[in-house]
Amino acid sequence: MRIIFIGPPGTGKGTQSNFITNKYSIPTISVGDILRSNTTQNNEYNKKINDIINEGKLVDDNTIVQLTKKRIHQIDCRKGFVLDGFPRTIPQAHALKNMNIKIDYVIQFELSYKLIIDRIKGRRIHIPSGRIYHKKYNPPKKENIDDITGQKLTVRKDDNEEKINKRIEEYQKYTLPLAEYYKKEEQLGYIKYYIINAQLTPLIIHKQLEKIFIQ
Ligand code: AP5
Ligand code: MG
Repeated sequence: MRIIFIGPPGTGKGTQSNFITNKYSIPTISVGDILRSNTTQNNEYNKKINDIINEGKLVDDNTIVQLTKKRIHQIDCRKGFVLDGFPRTIPQAHALKNMNIKIDYVIQFELSYKLIIDRIKGRRIHIPSGRIYHKKYNPPKKENIDDITGQKLTVRKDDNEEKINKRIEEYQKYTLPLAEYYKKEEQLGYIKYYIINAQLTPLIIHKQLEKIFIQ
């Protein structure tokens, strides 16, 4: 099962990827998570990447493609994977196609602007594991503490209204054209393409995805 999740920030791509990883034992490849954990090593290159992310802009295609290619070819991806946030541009989609890896499903998440802001503002994350919480919708057992490790949770530096607006703008400009691209791929019979109403609860969305994957 090889799955692509596309969608604006805060629409639940990471949350649903984590569900799928637990349910089907296939890894989630979250480019955002990989970039964030890389940038803990403090050198000039990582600092540059960190600045781009914190400004809400997209990192260049070449960096992203190299990073994803390396990850996809690791042994744990043999049975499948979820690509959370890759591809995000048409050149990235072409690069993925050139890797000769057959993608089965492309899932696009949709959510109103108001709810995106609500989701992002309440988000707390545990960087080492990628676990995602929300103050209101998915609170940790103890405020601001990861349920499993007891470590402190973090607010992402790009999770403020100004940066969210920039991320949405980038999404509309560079990522949304992928919807047309993958609709065409579906017409050609290469993939199955679905739109998810991300307004529903995490559990309902999870059930919808399960139904899609057993068809
Ligand atoms: P990335 O980390 O992928 O950020 P994003 O795409 O902006 O998406 P988010 O992680 O913000 O949201 P999500 O959809 O995962 O939502 P989540 O599940 O957390 O990328 C960050 C940056 O890295 C980019 O801006 C760019 O700079 C760079 N980058 C990454 N990939 C790149 C690429 N391919 N090319 C170039 N640059 C790239 O949920 C959000 C909140 O809502 C959480 O608090 C959660 O608990 C809650 N929640 C989730 N689902 C529900 C629900 N159904 N109901 C209620 N609450 C919910
Ligand atoms: Mg995410």
